[in-house]
Amino acid sequence: MNLSGNQASADASLETYQTIPKHVAIIMDGNGRWAQQKGKLRTFGHKSGVEAVRASVRYAREVGISSLTLFAFSSENWQRPKEEVSVLMQLFSLVLKSEVKKLDQNNIKLKVIGDTSALDKKLQEKIKKAEQKTENNTALTLNIAANYGGRWDIINATKQIANQVKNNALLPEQIDEALFNNYVSTSGLPELDLLIRTGGDHRVSNFLLWQCAYAEFYFTDTLWPDFNESIFAVAVADFASRQRRFGLTGSQIMTLDKKGSEPC
Ligand code: FPP
Repeated sequence: MNLSGNQASADASLETYQTIPKHVAIIMDGNGRWAQQKGKLRTFGHKSGVEAVRASVRYAREVGISSLTLFAFSSENWQRPKEEVSVLMQLFSLVLKSEVKKLDQNNIKLKVIGDTSALDKKLQEKIKKAEQKTENNTALTLNIAANYGGRWDIINATKQIANQVKNNALLPEQIDEALFNNYVSTSGLPELDLLIRTGGDHRVSNFLLWQCAYAEFYFTDTLWPDFNESIFAVAVADFASRQRRFGLTGSQIMTLDKKGSEPC
């Protein structure tokens, strides 16, 4: 059987097989329920969730995950009660203020993905400064998705490509997956390997739709504020135990795997 076109991408992707995922994304769900179970306001859950963010970043850096993308605020979250939206925005601002120095000291690059133009102007400034301060860091890229939606990301990329075509800088025939990848908000980052969702629901909720194509999914009932390094490690171990087939059969993958381990 001739694998030609697909073989190259399968070979490249197989580098990550049974190893630490290069790019992990997390849907941090369950803050509200965690707080309500304790008889507290939902916003207490969001505030407590910050410690789980710190633990995840620490773990990702420690084990050599190169990109961590966290869903902090979706384009749909604006519809939540006004006070809750306001607390989430304040929290984002506070976290930027208190954590950027530490991120920088730990060689972590911060990037905010999503339609940031809808955020408060002062917050946009803080984001820009934090991104500039950490832009040359190399140990880990921490992407915070704020006012992010997977459909928005795809439409935003499409608009930029359409403009290139309109300006005769690009031919429609030149549009392929690799080119499209350059226009989505995760451009330049490794392919998404693992998507974790806490809080017990089994859905993608408009997160990283383009990027999920070959990602492995890991769902846990743990509510976000209880998420920590050990639970992250279980998700990574589960990922490592899976056979990623990228559309091939199990035996094709085994053959490719053997070839890869032969000395040159
Ligand atoms: C979902 O839980 C969580 C959010 C919408 C916000 C996530 C924010 C944080 C963890 C804190 C801030 C983080 C950063 C990076 C600044 P939910 O409210 O939907 O919980 P529920 O499903 O129990 O209602």
